[in-house]
Amino acid sequence: MFKPKIIVIGSINMDLVTTSTSFPMQGETIKGIDFKTIPGGKGANQAVAAARLGADVRLIGCVGSDDFGKELKSHLLKENIQVEHVNVVQKYPTGIASITVSNHDNSIIVVPGANDCLTPEIINEKEEFIAECDLLLLQLEIPLSTVMKAAEIAKKHGVKILLNPAPVQLIPQALLEMADYLTPNEHERTYFNDDKSIQDKLIVTYGSKGVRFNENGNEKQIGAHKVKVVDTTGAGDTFNGALAVSLSKGDTLEQACLFGNAAAALSVMKFGAQSGMPFKEDVEKFLKTSAPG
Ligand code: RIB
Repeated sequence: MFKPKIIVIGSINMDLVTTSTSFPMQGETIKGIDFKTIPGGKGANQAVAAARLGADVRLIGCVGSDDFGKELKSHLLKENIQVEHVNVVQKYPTGIASITVSNHDNSIIVVPGANDCLTPEIINEKEEFIAECDLLLLQLEIPLSTVMKAAEIAKKHGVKILLNPAPVQLIPQALLEMADYLTPNEHERTYFNDDKSIQDKLIVTYGSKGVRFNENGNEKQIGAHKVKVVDTTGAGDTFNGALAVSLSKGDTLEQACLFGNAAAALSVMKFGAQSGMPFKEDVEKFLKTSAPG
């Protein structure tokens, strides 16, 4: 069976997750209910989603030489992700995300740490490694210059580029042009201009309202599945990982969005970004019994 080769160039974080009954107001101290450390980072999350959903995944990123870095690297290996190009840096600690989960919603502060050490020079040395792949999956939790360099190399070698523009920021026009697919959520969508060339690449996620995209000049929408939400952290990452797998297998955009939408629905039913991510068989089974709303 064909296993697409997906390369993820992105962030690796340890998520420090506090659950509480409400979000603290500015200047307020509140009592939490629970605290957990869970592997995260948009890059690593999307890599795990794609690997669980049947791709051959390689990840390029940076962690610190601390305990979090060691734990995350061995965790990624257990998820069947090639990590020989995950660099261990001495200068900065492993990236972390301080996450508060309350009432099925979350707020996140990311401290990039070692993720900021992933330079364009490092990516330049991986040209052959990138060129071998079917699809490059990018997010914006590493330096923008590094994202640009990765996209340039992928474009040169005809590797498809899926850019998840999160956390959102102003993106150079050249990067938008190089990307084959852009996957903002409804808030990030407002950062994009109305150029026709960009509109056609947009696949916009609307949380509990599903996903919208253009295919062959027609605007299409797929509603979300009705599921019991436990934690939405990493739902977007699951969608992106699944979309990447499906597209690089040659599925149509609509098939890929249906697959991603179902994978994301399953992910929100469990706690944690990666801990809730489904495997290929789970999504296939779910799609036989649940239709999008
Ligand atoms: O998209 C969710 C992720 O964003 C978390 O895992 C956290 O690490 C932040 O990068």
